[in-house]
Amino acid sequence: ASAEKGGFDHFMLKEIYEQPEAIKNTMLGRIDLDKNQIDFSQEGLDQKFLEGIQRFYIVACGTSYHAGLVAKYLIERELGLPVEVDIASEFRYRNPILDEKTLFIGISQSGETADTLASLRLAKEKGAKTLSICNVVGSTIARETEVVLYTKAGPEISVASTKAFSTQVLTFVLFTFYLKQLLFGENEKKQKIEALIKLPSQLKIFIEKVHSKVKTLAQKWYQAQNALYLGRNILYPIALEGALKLKEISYIHAEGYAAGEMKHGPIALIEEKVPTVILAAKETGIVYEKTLSNAEEVRSRRGPIISLVTEGAKEFQKISDEYIEVPLTFYEFLPIFYVVPLQLLAYEIATLRGCDVDKPRNLAKSVTVE
Ligand code: G6P
Repeated sequence: ASAEKGGFDHFMLKEIYEQPEAIKNTMLGRIDLDKNQIDFSQEGLDQKFLEGIQRFYIVACGTSYHAGLVAKYLIERELGLPVEVDIASEFRYRNPILDEKTLFIGISQSGETADTLASLRLAKEKGAKTLSICNVVGSTIARETEVVLYTKAGPEISVASTKAFSTQVLTFVLFTFYLKQLLFGENEKKQKIEALIKLPSQLKIFIEKVHSKVKTLAQKWYQAQNALYLGRNILYPIALEGALKLKEISYIHAEGYAAGEMKHGPIALIEEKVPTVILAAKETGIVYEKTLSNAEEVRSRRGPIISLVTEGAKEFQKISDEYIEVPLTFYEFLPIFYVVPLQLLAYEIATLRGCDVDKPRNLAKSVTVE
């Protein structure tokens, strides 16, 4: 079993470390460097398929749902088209409004999640066009959608999803760039495409560097009973994902919140024993100053702060108990960097608490029945 895990103690850790390779595979054959373009036409995603599409409806469960939330920020910002995101078990039992001008996008690592599959079938009945983002080739959801974009993360064994998430997010980044070309004839700047190509190697360096830092941090905080995760904009879904990872595998109660919404509830929980993980980034247009003042609010109530911020964000350093630096990158790439220390933090804390990391209690890798 240890050979299967490639020398790692758990599949989860192996899969966290596989992310640079996984995202490299996601890009493979989809980038035309000479033209500075993304190309999904081989996979059936072309002008003809997109004809008349005016809005998107993204549906998924669990971690895949968080990738959908990231996609909403990306697509609305870059394409100026409306995006709805919903949890599959909600979508399927109400009256979602969608028609032939809607592109339904189902996201599913396994391609077998019962609620996501039922949502897809409902969307088809309503006349929407359908696309899926799946990891498992030939899975039911992949087979039943008109177009499938595979994430190519390789098999994910750990119940807690890691590399499937980062490749889903990257697929959406590529999707957004591609649609910008197709719909508006706009190519990304050469600089951004170059940064995209460098992402795997940059991420690899970052994982190795940040892991030891996270280990030390976990030693200090693993006995916490509650934790709060805050972020804004494209880092808000990452706060949700960080909290989900921690509660899934360490059984610590964790909540992810939009930083600005904190004062409408979670601020009441803040005290010396409740750490708040705050995600912020400079120079990327995601209201850094506002998140900083949220951090100050936590501080003034004696809440410990673990901050994840882009390099050189000194203001945060001053008020944080723990401080993790994330490389300054383009807006689109932020989620892929920020999620990694949160995955590692959940992993290290769960290990210290003696939890069964790869098979957390009560959870299944794939929820194929309701
Ligand atoms: C389960 C797994 C999660 C996963 C979710 C959705 O809850 O434990 O890791 O995110 O199902 O799965 P899917 O295969 O549809 O992405």
